[in-house]
Amino acid sequence: MAERNAFGRITNKGWSLALFAAMLSSAAGSPSFAYGETGAEAWLRYSAVSPQIAKNYSHLPGQTVVLGHSAVLDSAQQELARGFSQMFRRTQRTATGTPSESAIILGTLAELHSLAPNLRPAQELRVDGYWLKSSKIRGFDCLVITGVTDRGVLYGVFAMLSKIARAESIAALNEVQQPYAPIRWVNQWDNLDGRIERGYGGPSVFFADGKVRADLSRAGQYARLLASIGINGCTVNNVNASLHMLDSNLIAQVGRLADVFRPWGVQLSLSVDLSSPKVVGGLDTFDPLDPRVAEWWRKKADEIYQRIPDFGGFVMKADSEGRVGPSTYGRTHAEAANVIARALKPHGGVVFYRAFVYNHHLDWHDLKNDRARAAYDNFHPLDGAFDGNAIVQIKNGPIDFQVREPVSPLFGGLRLTGEAIELQITQEYTGQQRHLCFLVPMWKEVLDFDLHASDSATPVKDLVAGRTFHRPTGGFVGVANVGMDANWMGSPLAMANLYGFGRLAWNPDLSAEEIIEEWTRLTFGSDPTVLRTITGMQLASWHVYESYTGPLGAGTLTNITGNHYDPGPESSEENGWGQWHRADHAGIGMDRTVATGTGFVGQYPLAVQRQYESLTNCPDDLLLFFHHVPYRYVLHSGETVVQHVYDSHYEGADQARAFISQWKSLQGRLDEERYRDILARFEYQAGEAAVWRDALCNWIYRMSGIADAKGRVGAAPHP
Ligand code: GCU
Repeated sequence: MAERNAFGRITNKGWSLALFAAMLSSAAGSPSFAYGETGAEAWLRYSAVSPQIAKNYSHLPGQTVVLGHSAVLDSAQQELARGFSQMFRRTQRTATGTPSESAIILGTLAELHSLAPNLRPAQELRVDGYWLKSSKIRGFDCLVITGVTDRGVLYGVFAMLSKIARAESIAALNEVQQPYAPIRWVNQWDNLDGRIERGYGGPSVFFADGKVRADLSRAGQYARLLASIGINGCTVNNVNASLHMLDSNLIAQVGRLADVFRPWGVQLSLSVDLSSPKVVGGLDTFDPLDPRVAEWWRKKADEIYQRIPDFGGFVMKADSEGRVGPSTYGRTHAEAANVIARALKPHGGVVFYRAFVYNHHLDWHDLKNDRARAAYDNFHPLDGAFDGNAIVQIKNGPIDFQVREPVSPLFGGLRLTGEAIELQITQEYTGQQRHLCFLVPMWKEVLDFDLHASDSATPVKDLVAGRTFHRPTGGFVGVANVGMDANWMGSPLAMANLYGFGRLAWNPDLSAEEIIEEWTRLTFGSDPTVLRTITGMQLASWHVYESYTGPLGAGTLTNITGNHYDPGPESSEENGWGQWHRADHAGIGMDRTVATGTGFVGQYPLAVQRQYESLTNCPDDLLLFFHHVPYRYVLHSGETVVQHVYDSHYEGADQARAFISQWKSLQGRLDEERYRDILARFEYQAGEAAVWRDALCNWIYRMSGIADAKGRVGAAPHP
């Protein structure tokens, strides 16, 4: 039975854990453990394989032949040597030229041609794709790892090492793998002073004290991790960019960062501010249509490419959350994007122009106002006005990385424009790496969602990859925000999200189950109990987190004016930020219908409108995103809204507590260090889940005045 404490907060036996959680969090921000190498290696542990398993790989040649020379090929060769040395405790010999014995051959298809002119993959390899092929060459049994580019060769090496680390057979290989889209980037929201906006894994691996770090070894290790999952670009600084990011002295410093990325095939890019021609260049304007401004961007691009020949391009956040933008001069977003795109074009660079543009001073009294409409309203009318190397970068949902949102209608609203989906790997609104929340199942739902943007199926993954409307480029961007913590993201289990993002960006057809199984085997080994337990917990975790934080699509119930972490449903309302749930004493939810609401539903193609416009069709898990209903409204599940909220929060908090015993079942099956670290995190999470449950149940009771039918909330206080 629940009780009330002096503050009117409902308490019960979860409370002692909640206090423990609060103590931990006030002491250190979050539980912190330093366990060096095991964390930093992430999924590239290459643990020694047992002699039994090693037998399966004894046919692997002891020599590596490298065809050609480049920093990326050097990385490929060294990675192979490192993997073999750690997994098999054996030293791989290296040679160049024609093999004189059985060998693993690394090189591009072009190089391979001179050695084995008839050896060709059955399908054409695209940029960054690779081919793993067992073949006789010059009479010797060889294993060929090849691609169109050196980067493809590197990816092939990582893929083969991953197979071995997961004890997969590599006999008689003939496997082609191709990336789904050319753009597979991460964004880091790092500030020059070393802090990371919405970063939960310690300070920046790139910057400290206003400068690029002297020691960039962690940055290099990060690039290796990214390459291992096929990520080919990294934007190193915050989208809320320093106004001085394009100062010449910073470009020179950032050049050192690009130097440590290059051997891993990761292109560096920068977030920049639209006012740079004025702030950095000293012009009296940053009007994108002013020829002096265009000239400034051109010269700046030339300067950057002089130092960083493989520079990727720029990310632009404009007219958003207080940043200046083209509206200063009455210009469009396309005009702003194009002036920069044209400066980058001769060098092969791209500009990512973020669609996260909305008015954060919306009048909350007006029930027709709706922040969710903003991206489509701003960008759909500009379709066709963007240059080919300008890519509109669109967050997965129309609000802001909430635990559940429908997909952004803008993905289907651009037919003549390149697009990229922006997913958030760092768990800003989903527990900040202190709660387990494996996001791949959510991303899968988003990527597989059919927007019905044309007659045949148009899943979001195809729209963003440029496949549906035949765009020259497009793809996937993940906001990663790793930091200096030994385990990068602040929690070892959260690394599954970084891994999962990379794997989905490479192949969004992989299932969440396949991805988490790969990651778990690589990170924790292949003990069936460990595998079953960890994959089960990870796969359940998004739903568990949603259950005790924000079920039914109510959106942000976190403290939105503060840390985006604690429960704070009141903070969403009565301000201009537009993250409203519209809860009052009669009901809850945003009416976004065409018939009576904000009309947001009308931004979707008709077939999707049919899913959301009517109460009859709208799925329960998005009900409160699209509709305002009374608390006693009966869901498809047969429960009332209010009872669902109570039940869901209690079930979710119970499941979070059950994570502790599930984890304890692994004691002795993995190293004590990680066992203990992760156990403490689950104990912490259980306490936090109880805090959430109590705060949210109490709030919904206060709003609705309807007690929990099961007597846990709103029951008569103890005498
Ligand atoms: C969120 C986040 C901000 C970030 C913004 C963005 O609102 O809280 O820190 O700057 O998204 O994506 O631009």
